[in-house]
Amino acid sequence: MRWEPSRYAAFADDRGRPFHDLVAQVAWPARDGREAPRRVVDLGCGPGALTATLAARWRSSPVVGIDSSAEMLASAAADPALADLPNLSFALGAIEDWMPGPTDDVVVTNAALQWVPSHVALLPRWLDAMPSGSWFAMQVPGNFGSPSHALMRSIGASGPWASALDGVLRSDPVLDPAGYLGIMLDAGFAARAWETTYAQLLPGEDPVLDWVRGTGLRPALAALDAADPTGALTAEYVDRYRAALREAYPASDHGTVYPFRRVFAVGRKP
Ligand SMILES: C[S@@+](CC[C@H](N)C(=O)[O-])C[C@H]1O[C@@H](n2cnc3c(N)ncnc32)[C@H](O)[C@@H]1O
Repeated sequence: MRWEPSRYAAFADDRGRPFHDLVAQVAWPARDGREAPRRVVDLGCGPGALTATLAARWRSSPVVGIDSSAEMLASAAADPALADLPNLSFALGAIEDWMPGPTDDVVVTNAALQWVPSHVALLPRWLDAMPSGSWFAMQVPGNFGSPSHALMRSIGASGPWASALDGVLRSDPVLDPAGYLGIMLDAGFAARAWETTYAQLLPGEDPVLDWVRGTGLRPALAALDAADPTGALTAEYVDRYRAALREAYPASDHGTVYPFRRVFAVGRKP
């Protein structure tokens, strides 16, 4: 599936806020240990602007962003704001193939594991392999039951596009906070997990559609474009979905409120 970094970046402030709330919980330097992490990893780093904040925070630590999207990494490579951080690098790779190295002291993954169906099985293996004293911090969207996603699926389930979209949009790709907390505690981490619903105020005529076009709607758009390369099927589906979103998320004088639930888990290995 192709990503469009510029479309993804359109709501950079709102998309970035959970990242900052997440990494604020990583309390490094620890009182008992090393001054700086030996290595920091950002799994599913996207266009790299948020990864860069980790490199700015830990300037003496190598910070590597890993992503499977060549488009996202090309965007990171072309971003002049990232050029003056010599400790920052990026690597093309699949999260499914990654395992922590013995010096990976901080692992962050923000808004990426929902794309990796095997992540619940991978987490215990990653946590087991991480070094003593390391931190693991993850955030995933927890809004797959919200109108934006329920409508995406229900409209997709009937109509001329139904066969093209069959099985494409998942309803349950992530756990609740307690699920991730249990995994981290079972792995011996001192952990906490929580959820936050951000009342995001978005500008523009169809901002919720614009938001999901950058992320959650992409598998459907890819499937529809493959089924009908003329784009007519995609346009018809998007028109129906747009109308439903306008009803579900009415605009006000201030903008459109798009409530967005996110699930967080952060822990440290003793
Ligand atoms: C919603 S973006 C999040 C980007 C960034 N972490 C942020 O918070 O802005 C999801 C990213 O995960 C990446 N991704 C999705 N599945 C992946 C996989 N299996 N392996 C590596 N990266 C993946 C995508 O390419 C995309 O850049």
